[in-house]
Amino acid sequence: MEISQRLKTVAGFVKYKTIADIGTDHGYIPCYLALNEKITRAIACDINDGPLGKARENVKANGLDEIIETRLGPGLLPLHKSEAETVIIAGMGGILICDILFEGMDILGGVKQLIVQPQRDVYRVRKFLHKIGFMIEDEEMVYEAGKFYNIISAVRGSERYSDEISYIFGKRLMEKKSAVLYMYLNAEIEKYSSILNSTSVRPENSAGLEKIRVNMALSQEVLKRYEAD
Ligand SMILES: C[S@@+](CC[C@H](N)C(=O)[O-])C[C@H]1O[C@@H](n2cnc3c(N)ncnc32)[C@H](O)[C@@H]1O
Repeated sequence: MEISQRLKTVAGFVKYKTIADIGTDHGYIPCYLALNEKITRAIACDINDGPLGKARENVKANGLDEIIETRLGPGLLPLHKSEAETVIIAGMGGILICDILFEGMDILGGVKQLIVQPQRDVYRVRKFLHKIGFMIEDEEMVYEAGKFYNIISAVRGSERYSDEISYIFGKRLMEKKSAVLYMYLNAEIEKYSSILNSTSVRPENSAGLEKIRVNMALSQEVLKRYEAD
């Protein structure tokens, strides 16, 4: 089974044999993991019956009914405590991911690893993981079909970053000098420069422009760290 680089990176972070994939849609992640013998059991959950139907078809087509169970329902609520060691929530907004984690706090008690791939608001997700007692052990950034994706693996533990820049761009990505983060920073700086140099920029937009200047300075600060050694 061929899956996207984004989903492969999510799957690559899985450390445990029992997983739950929340918002599974097509069910590609559990199917890929089961076909590659990385897991012994998966619960594929989705709030909508249409996507879950696609997951059911894929599970059946690949002969994986013994390993993957599909369940309908919101967030973590279709799960019982301690059913899944790793929980995956990919391809959703960061605020929705935080809401799902917050609403499923009881079930989360039995979870050892969280793999999240927020489509936006990554800063909020990093902050929230720390708040609920998870430490970020690894991160990857993937560039695919013209888009950047953040994939975060978190395990139980107490951690706080001492600076905001680590929450904004990802401490682990900066530490490993991620080539994709480097690309992202350059793309952001180019985008901000073209806005600031645009002839349509007007003084009445000064608050918005100040925000762009701050964001640009932050991106440049991280780039400087890449070039420092
Ligand atoms: C964009 S798809 C992402 C699918 C897959 N996880 C991926 O990364 O490719 C989002 C899926 O999440 C489901 N979804 C949205 N809100 C949800 C919630 N609160 N609980 C469970 N599933 C949800 C949608 O029905 C949809 O199938």
